[in-house]
Amino acid sequence: MSSQPQRSDLVAKLTRPVARPLAATYRWVDERMGISDLTHQLLYEAVPRRGAWAYSLGSATLIIIVLQIVTGMFLLWTYVPSTTEAWESLNYIEHYDEFAAIVRGMHLWGAYVLLVIIGLHMIRTFVSGSYKKPRELNWIVGVILFLLVLGLGITGAMLPWDQAAYWTAQVVTHVVDYVPLLGNWLQDILRGGPQMGPETLTRFFAIHIWLLPALLVPLVGLHLILLRRHGEHGSWVNYEGVESETEEARAERMADAEYPYPAIPSDPGYAVPVDIGDFFPSQVFKDSLVSFALVLLVFIMAVVVGAPLERAANPAALNYVPTPEWFFLPLDQLLIQFPQAWMIPVGVFVLPGIGTTLLILVPFLDRSPEREPWRRPEVMVPALFAVLFLIFEALLAVNRLFNL
Ligand code: HEM
Ligand code: HEM
Repeated sequence: MSSQPQRSDLVAKLTRPVARPLAATYRWVDERMGISDLTHQLLYEAVPRRGAWAYSLGSATLIIIVLQIVTGMFLLWTYVPSTTEAWESLNYIEHYDEFAAIVRGMHLWGAYVLLVIIGLHMIRTFVSGSYKKPRELNWIVGVILFLLVLGLGITGAMLPWDQAAYWTAQVVTHVVDYVPLLGNWLQDILRGGPQMGPETLTRFFAIHIWLLPALLVPLVGLHLILLRRHGEHGSWVNYEGVESETEEARAERMADAEYPYPAIPSDPGYAVPVDIGDFFPSQVFKDSLVSFALVLLVFIMAVVVGAPLERAANPAALNYVPTPEWFFLPLDQLLIQFPQAWMIPVGVFVLPGIGTTLLILVPFLDRSPEREPWRRPEVMVPALFAVLFLIFEALLAVNRLFNL
């Protein structure tokens, strides 16, 4: 017993020469930058308590995007964006650089996991009616983020410049030609000329590593600023009984609300969740656990399966049939179901265009204050059909491509 204080005295004495200057440096920086205030603000905002695991999907999306940026930067150490050396540089990684091969695997599997998680995050916010007043704009920013991530997925798939990448680039730049009025011009911009060539890879590389990230990063920032401004809506379980609440009870809840609530302008009763807690430690713990499990999954997939690399691109191999990335399978199937003349205009532009427009308009189409999913069949049923339709189309495509 008596040795305890002596030991801690000794530790304090030994660490003092390092701890004191460190603490003084931190105080100096903090006085100038306000790190402590900021950390306090970030950690102690109010969040809804019920259904908290479901709200970890947003931060998991964020963490995997950071993972993509970090692994992408590491890849740039070795990857050479030229049609003569891109494949060579990745082939070198696969055979001689174990660390870089794992990083490459993590970048690929990170992209796959990201697409699944962003999809689940979207479904979660849709089901809980989080797109309603005052969060309409945040939903729209979310839809744009989703499109940017899809864009990163498809442009990334062209970078290895193996057979799959080359023929994917062919298909994508061919389809672009059908854009009304601007098609030819857009195709020339993407290809770097009328035909595919060395500049095509340089262009897709530029789009992948700076153009799309330069749009993605500030928009993620805007998404988070809007989230902070209105507070987490959470889900309907946090607003049980609000309809039968008396005016006094509601006014009391509004008056007792902690920052960032009350969310304004909200439908009556939905400005403050009934049961709130601090973001730290409970929600932070759940968010960290989910994100850690996903990063671990990405790492395991990178080690066990890795990223494939087909033969180097061969423009003369005209009988090569490219298999689309799994997240484009529904679109690929949709395409072949139309007669030749309609295939690209309707399959690539009209239907996906209508789908995207409807997605953006969701907050304006469903304006009722109702948040419980089973009391909103007019939006839940069409959405369920849309998801089932996409899954069905993807299964048909798998069956067609792999003869299952
Ligand atoms: C780059 C991709 C994205 C990132 C990093 C991101 C991040 C986040 C985070 C951290 C939250 C708070 C925690 C949570 O509710 O899960 C959130 C909330 C939200 N996100 Fe996203 N998100 C992304 C994409 C999307 C997409 C694709 C949509 C829908 C189309 C969307 C719609 C929303 C909405 C409506 C909220 C408010 C939820 C609420 O208050 O209940 N987000 N997002
Ligand atoms: C959400 C963000 C991102 C997604 C979804 C994404 C997705 C992808 C995908 C699917 C590939 C193809 C992997 C393969 O088949 O080997 C790829 C390749 C690549 N990405 Fe990204 N990426 C993202 C961000 C970035 C960033 C920010 C950088 C650069 C800082 C980057 C650099 C690269 C490089 C150099 C390659 C070629 C190497 C290779 O193919 O293995 N990526 N990306």
